[in-house]
Order: sequence, then structure tokens, then C-alpha cells
Amino acid sequence: MIHRPQSQHPAASSEAGWPSRLLGDVTPQAFAKAVSRVGDSQQQKPMQRAVQVIDAAGAAALRNMGVPAKGRPLNDVLTQLLEDIHPWRAKMDHPRFFAFIPGPASPLSALGELATAMHNAHAGSWLQSSGASAIEMGLIEWLASRVGLPATAGGLFVSGGSMANLTALTVARDQKLAPHERSIAVAYVSEQTHSSVAKGLKIIGFLPDQIRRMPTDDAFAMDMAALACAMEQDRAAGLKPFVVIASAGTTNTGSVDPLRAIRALCDQHGLWMHVDGAYGASAALSPAHRGLLDGIGEADSLSWDAHKWLFQTYGCGMVLMRHREHLPQSFHTRPEYLRDAQTDADQVNHWDLGAELTRPARAMKLWLTLQVLGSQAMGDAIAHGCQLAQWAEDELRQHAGWDVVSPAQLAIVTFRMTQPGLSPEDTDALNRAISRRALEDGFAAVLTTQLKGRTVLRICAIHPDATELDMRETIRRLDAYGRESAMALTL
Ligand SMILES: Cc1ncc(COP(=O)(O)O)c(C=O)c1O
Repeated sequence: MIHRPQSQHPAASSEAGWPSRLLGDVTPQAFAKAVSRVGDSQQQKPMQRAVQVIDAAGAAALRNMGVPAKGRPLNDVLTQLLEDIHPWRAKMDHPRFFAFIPGPASPLSALGELATAMHNAHAGSWLQSSGASAIEMGLIEWLASRVGLPATAGGLFVSGGSMANLTALTVARDQKLAPHERSIAVAYVSEQTHSSVAKGLKIIGFLPDQIRRMPTDDAFAMDMAALACAMEQDRAAGLKPFVVIASAGTTNTGSVDPLRAIRALCDQHGLWMHVDGAYGASAALSPAHRGLLDGIGEADSLSWDAHKWLFQTYGCGMVLMRHREHLPQSFHTRPEYLRDAQTDADQVNHWDLGAELTRPARAMKLWLTLQVLGSQAMGDAIAHGCQLAQWAEDELRQHAGWDVVSPAQLAIVTFRMTQPGLSPEDTDALNRAISRRALEDGFAAVLTTQLKGRTVLRICAIHPDATELDMRETIRRLDAYGRESAMALTL
């Protein structure tokens, strides 16, 4: 049974129930109307241009707007925000935005964020937010169980994948290295590992030559023979291998490294195994796709972003640990001014588990989304992304002149138009031209990336509202832009 606290004192004098002095002239009714206006503005409009970047004069006007001594009407300010500022962005949440990792956030997540912000819960300690802290603990346990981590697992919500990686790597360092070993330590990544890993290693004190970038195989997954060999060489040179960072869903191709083989090698040599599942771990919620992540539950630590494929607004990621006590062993501090907030067993001060002291209750928006949608609908929405990428691949294979560079994998497919007689460099230029044309046309956003030194087009299709027609028409248009651009190049 869930308990509700009783009110013991009369409401504060403010009519609104929150500080009226900080509301200016805005009445609670006007405030509520503004909230509903923001909600309405979320309605999808047809995509005009996928990416709209403000020009220099426009940026200067915004930058120099200044701050008025006397406040302006809420409606005017809101109009400016909704019509003059936010349209200058990439439409990461449009169903046909297939670039980067799209951000198709559920409006339920935005609502959860608003509700949490209105109560301004301080999710640092149990004393300050016992309700939200209990939800955070429960959600972390549920997520850990979805990927097959044991009951010893724990973790916390952080701002995203970069912070999750940084947090986990700090723990790996502390668990595996004595202080005097830090200068001889070596970390292993693949050439497809996300750049936030090297950044995190740098922040916690490692030099670039302490990171080994392993080659990848034809499926862009870590080459195990190369990894074993590099470890042997480093040991022989008197160095101390301490962590392998495996990817469960690389950013470029959605590839999953051989997680069980990496676990076995880590066990053999006493290394920490971190899995960066910032993008791909969400596939664990789709019964049809969780098998693709085989071995993910063997990790010592795992990064997982809810603001990617769990449809949350930005600023919502998780770091999970196989053993929950490892986080406080790295992050616990006990200054005198925080001692009143000590916890009993079964309670947690989340400020002891990570770098942040004051932190928002990031778990609440994911909680609200999952409670309203249910885990099945969430799993179906994730599965749909994998299907979309399959449709894209299928359509590509029906048009001559396209190489599928990496097949549909965790909702990502990469491909490249080739034309007889074009040099590799001209082929790179052709594929860049196709992407530029797509952005100009605005029907769908498709950008390029580099694989094995060559430019390829990349689709990451995780929007649950994108349709088969959207996908096939996108490929047909890319094909048409390609043929036009190829003619210009070969003339
Ligand atoms: C595999 C992977 N890891 C880490 C990150 C970094 O996550 P964030 O942008 O949330 O910091 C990304 C971002 O795209 C990613 O794809």
C-alpha cells in the first residue's frame, strides 16, 4: 500500500500555492493557459526543413535582446520563445529525422519533467526526496533486471550517456587500480566506440596513449584477436590493462561487440568490463530484439540513455552497476553539513552515488511515461525502429547502384551510392551531395558518416510514428538526388 503524507498546517498565504512574488503579474489561470499553449505547440507540423540554423543577424538580435528591468507579458515572451527561438533547431523529434541519434521524446516525458520541475524535488538525498528516491531505486532495479544484471545491481540517473560513461569509468579506475598504477594503466576501446569514452578517460586523468583503439571486423564489432593480442603486448611491456569498453549499439552502425567473449577475456586477465549501451540497451525492452544484446548482463557497469531510445526529453540517462556498493565506494563523501541527511539501510542518498550533489529527479519522467504506456507499448515502439531500418534496407536493395555498407542493425542502416567510373573520392563527394540535397528538400533528414575511411549515408530510424511509406519514399528520393548529382559529377 502506498502512503500519502497528511497536511498538518494551513496553506501558505500565496493564492497560487507557490511563490507569487516569483510569478510577477501572472495569475495562476494565465499560467495554466500558458502551460496548455506550450503543450499544443508540441503538435507535429509537416517538416519544412529538417535543420534550420539562424543567420548571423538573427543570432545577434537574439543575443542582444538583454533583460528588461520591468517584466513583459507572459504571452508575448512565450510567443517569442515558441516562434522566434525554438524553430531555429534541428527537428530531432520529427518522424523523418533520421540523422544523429534522433530525439523522438514522448509528450508524457515532457509532462513528467514539468510535474517534477513544478515541485522542484531535490533528488540528492533521501531526506529531501524520499518518494522520488524510492522511485529512482525501483526503476534502476527494474531496468537492471531487464538487461539481466543480478539482484546485487544498482545505479543512478545521470544527465546522459557521456556522464554515465564518465561515472562508470571512474568506478572502474577505483576498483581496478591502486593509485600508483594509474600512470601505467591501459583502457581498450574499438575504433567505433563513442568519443565520450575517451573524453571521460581524459577527464579522470588518463593520457591519450593509455587508450588502445581496437580494429573492428566486417560487422564493425570489436576484433577479439586484436584485443587479446594488445593485452598481451601491454602486459609484456609492464603496463596494467584495467578496463575494456564494449559497445552495445555503436553510434555509427548499431553494432554490438562480442560481449560474452569480452567478458571471458576480462575475467581471464582481471579487467573491468564496461558496456556502453547508451544507444542500444533499450532493445532489451523488446522481447524480439533483446537477444541481439546477448551477454549485456555480464557487464560490471552499463551506460543506458533514456533520452535516446526510451523516448525521454534530454537530460535523462542511467549508469548501472553489477554491484551497487561500487558507486558509493567512489563517490561517497561525508561533510559535516550533510550529516543530518544520513540514511538507514534500504534508503539511499543519491548524491553519494555520483558526481552531482543537487540533482533533479530525472527518473520521474521515465517513470510517468512507463506507468502510462506500460512496458509492452514501450517494447513495441522500440521494435518498430528496427522494422523501419529493415524497410529502408529492403528498398535500397531494390535500386541499382547502392551498396549496403552495414545492414539494418538496432534501427541503423548505412549505405553508399556508387557509380561506374567514379573514383572513391568522387563517390564520397556524391554521397555528401545526396545528403545536402536531402536537407535542402526537407522531406527527410539523412546525414553522412565515415566508415573505414569512406563517406557513407546513415539512417537511424527510431521514431515510433514513422511509417513504411516514410521510409521507402525517403530512399526513393535519395536515389533520385543521387542520380541527379551523379550526372553533375560525371559531366
Ligand atoms: C553509443 C553512445 N555512447 C554515448 C553517447 C553520449 O551520450 P550523451 O549524448 O547522452 O552524452 C552517445 C550519443 O550519441 C552514443 O551514441
